[in-house]
Amino acid sequence: MVSGSTVQLLPLGRTLVLPQGAALREALFEFGVEFPCGGRGRCKGCRLRVLAGDLAITADDRQRLSPVELAAGWRLACQARVSGDLTLEIAQWEAAVLGDQSRITFQPRPGLGVAVDLGTTTLAVQLLDLATGNVLAVATAMNAQAVHGADVMSRIHFAVHENGAGRLHDLIRRQIGGLIAGLRQEAARDEAIVEVVLVGNTAMQLLFCGRDVHPLAQAPFESDELDEACFTGAELGWSVTAEAVVRFLPSLGGFVGSDLLAGILATGLAEVKSLSALIDLGTNGEIIVTNGGRVLCASTAAGPAFEGARISMGMRAATGAISEVTVREGSLVCRVLGGGEPRGICGSGLVDAVACGLELGWITSTGRPASGEAVLLAGDVELAPRDIRELQLAKGAITAGLRLMVEQLGFTPGALERVHLAGAFGNYISRANARRIGLLPFPPEQIEPAGNTALLGAKMVLLRTVDFSTFWEELRPRVEHVPLNEDPRFHEVYVEEMGFPSQRLS
Ligand code: FES
Repeated sequence: MVSGSTVQLLPLGRTLVLPQGAALREALFEFGVEFPCGGRGRCKGCRLRVLAGDLAITADDRQRLSPVELAAGWRLACQARVSGDLTLEIAQWEAAVLGDQSRITFQPRPGLGVAVDLGTTTLAVQLLDLATGNVLAVATAMNAQAVHGADVMSRIHFAVHENGAGRLHDLIRRQIGGLIAGLRQEAARDEAIVEVVLVGNTAMQLLFCGRDVHPLAQAPFESDELDEACFTGAELGWSVTAEAVVRFLPSLGGFVGSDLLAGILATGLAEVKSLSALIDLGTNGEIIVTNGGRVLCASTAAGPAFEGARISMGMRAATGAISEVTVREGSLVCRVLGGGEPRGICGSGLVDAVACGLELGWITSTGRPASGEAVLLAGDVELAPRDIRELQLAKGAITAGLRLMVEQLGFTPGALERVHLAGAFGNYISRANARRIGLLPFPPEQIEPAGNTALLGAKMVLLRTVDFSTFWEELRPRVEHVPLNEDPRFHEVYVEEMGFPSQRLS
């Protein structure tokens, strides 16, 4: 039986119960904590301080933190595992906003603000003190619309064919209003909430704003109502001032929404001078590629393999999931989240398992298990031939999309100098194994796990770290949506990209 540890997070006053041995990184990521170096123990950006209880000092802690800091209880959150009850202070939430110190400059102003990452699956909401930039309270929740379909297409189907747009619109507005009221109460602050900034994919934007989603139900999947939407607190009836401005940032095109626009802001992609990309690996893989001039954006249906769905023993990255697989002396060694018996495998474990299978010769470059049978991983968890196929479909969609976009700019994928990976999956995936399976065929040092760039970008707008109007005015004419589904070469390249490299890339 797994025993739990109580972990109190300050300054939020939030209490979590985590299994013994659980990685804090996984638990804190959900609250919008950033891991600027992708949790590799290199940047100190994820520091926390132990106020009560005990967190073992790791080798990376010793390397990055001074003896004085260690003695004062500072540890790297990305390296820490829970071994008893704890009270922790998250440095990032005290010291204003972003993990990347170079972008911390913001314009203080009175009042409170709220940043919302409105995802198809989950919502992340942060209440901020606009005078200090401190995060005062955080809430995450499953998107209440999920009862009407897990993915974007089923929500659109419900809206269009079952007359459900109004229902979805009401559900999400009510849910976000409720979360904001909860955050206000939790933070117990008197100041008014003066601004709310929301980001999300195009369907989330249209549904929240009460705009027509029909164009997303059929080719060419382009809506002409993607502009920024502004509401007042009075219109929404939320617990913000009546004059508070509630802004849903503009979408980029097709299914590529303001969450990716926020990602461009958070990664500084609009200013780069060399060929760079931002990839959000999800059911809808979203890709931005720029050479410093044009900014191409596209989405590609990768399927849910990266989220552990449609995999025979797939699951989300939760307790019991195999999240890492390595090879030791010719055998597979699996790391299970929370310790204990494996119950299934999540996306990062899947990428690892296939990479290890390729290395051991248990899986061929065409994706077939050499034995013709499922590959046993640990306990009862195994990898069926069709699971490998699902990963190939996801990988093929992303790499084909990326390749065609890079080619449109006159380059080959090998010319990419920097690839930012957005989202939780981007933080956990092994870059070496993503390279081994050909998903991200770049040297690991060129891949930058960028965390929740959607929430980060929303906070940057809220805190005026950038003048959003000027930023958007400059960026907008450079943005081109690439409808990959209409590209006659897409299918051919997709099939080509489904295979795995026969050997480790040098
Ligand atoms: S040290 Fe960089 S995220 Fe932990």
